[in-house]
Amino acid sequence: GKVAVLLGGNSAEREVSLNSGSAILNALLANGVDAIAFDPKEQELTELKTLGIDRVFIALHGRGGEDGTIQGALEFMGLPYTGSGVLGSALAMDKVRCKQLFVANDLPTAKFTTVKKGEDFNTEAIIAEFGAVMVKPSHEGSSIGMAKANSAEELNSALENAFTFDDEVLLEQWITGSEYTVSMLNDQALSVIEMRTPRGFYDYEAKYKSTTTSYHCPADLAPSETEYLQRIATQAFALVGAKDWGRVDAMRDENGQFYLLEVNTVPGMTEKSLVPMAAKDSGRSFGELVLEILDSTL
Ligand code: DAL
Ligand code: MG
Repeated sequence: GKVAVLLGGNSAEREVSLNSGSAILNALLANGVDAIAFDPKEQELTELKTLGIDRVFIALHGRGGEDGTIQGALEFMGLPYTGSGVLGSALAMDKVRCKQLFVANDLPTAKFTTVKKGEDFNTEAIIAEFGAVMVKPSHEGSSIGMAKANSAEELNSALENAFTFDDEVLLEQWITGSEYTVSMLNDQALSVIEMRTPRGFYDYEAKYKSTTTSYHCPADLAPSETEYLQRIATQAFALVGAKDWGRVDAMRDENGQFYLLEVNTVPGMTEKSLVPMAAKDSGRSFGELVLEILDSTL
């Protein structure tokens, strides 16, 4: 059958998605799969039917593509698609509700509070309670709109910026430590990767532009730590209803305590991205990874 790779879209992560989608499309074509690129920002989704598409590979990141809306539309059209369904996609795109689920299920995550646009909040009190905080628009990806705030003044300006992206903002207690990610394939954890950056955190620049970011795969952790992190990541993935493939991000503080950050249901898929890196460590080429993800639609 014919496969459409959905890419681009109109989220703040459009550029990243164009890169993921072209890498996926090229891999499919190189492996003899009949596939086309389809950008729902420029084309009506209903055209998938007239184009004779019978399976969809979702390479859209962020709102509109990773949050359950496209998934719902495809369900309605009766088209099988890769990755998580409507509920898992919607929950994973919502950092606040993910963390509420983690807390309710005794999964470790940093202490947090939320602020809604138009609501009264006291930044002095928040800084007094948390110390430094990480400010995150609840429904964004790729660290878009994120900033660290050390003072009430910094928090005010970080919130002002975050509210240009989202009506709900997550304020997480700042964790000093290392950043890790656990890639998921066939609902199972692959090798853990550690991301190291001289920047304040693994932000948009460190993810896509900087040459100073280094990746350690498998991460330099004790076997028991790797096992623990893979276990809680797998639990978190299932807990939010995510399935097949994705990536769970986490941190480890200076005392060795782990914290789950979030679940990504359509993580970056350029040849240099994290899931392909972990897949390589398990002996899968980029092309094999893409075909394995596509196979989950059957
Ligand atoms: N949101 C980006 C694409 C990621 O998680 O890789
Ligand atoms: Mg994310």
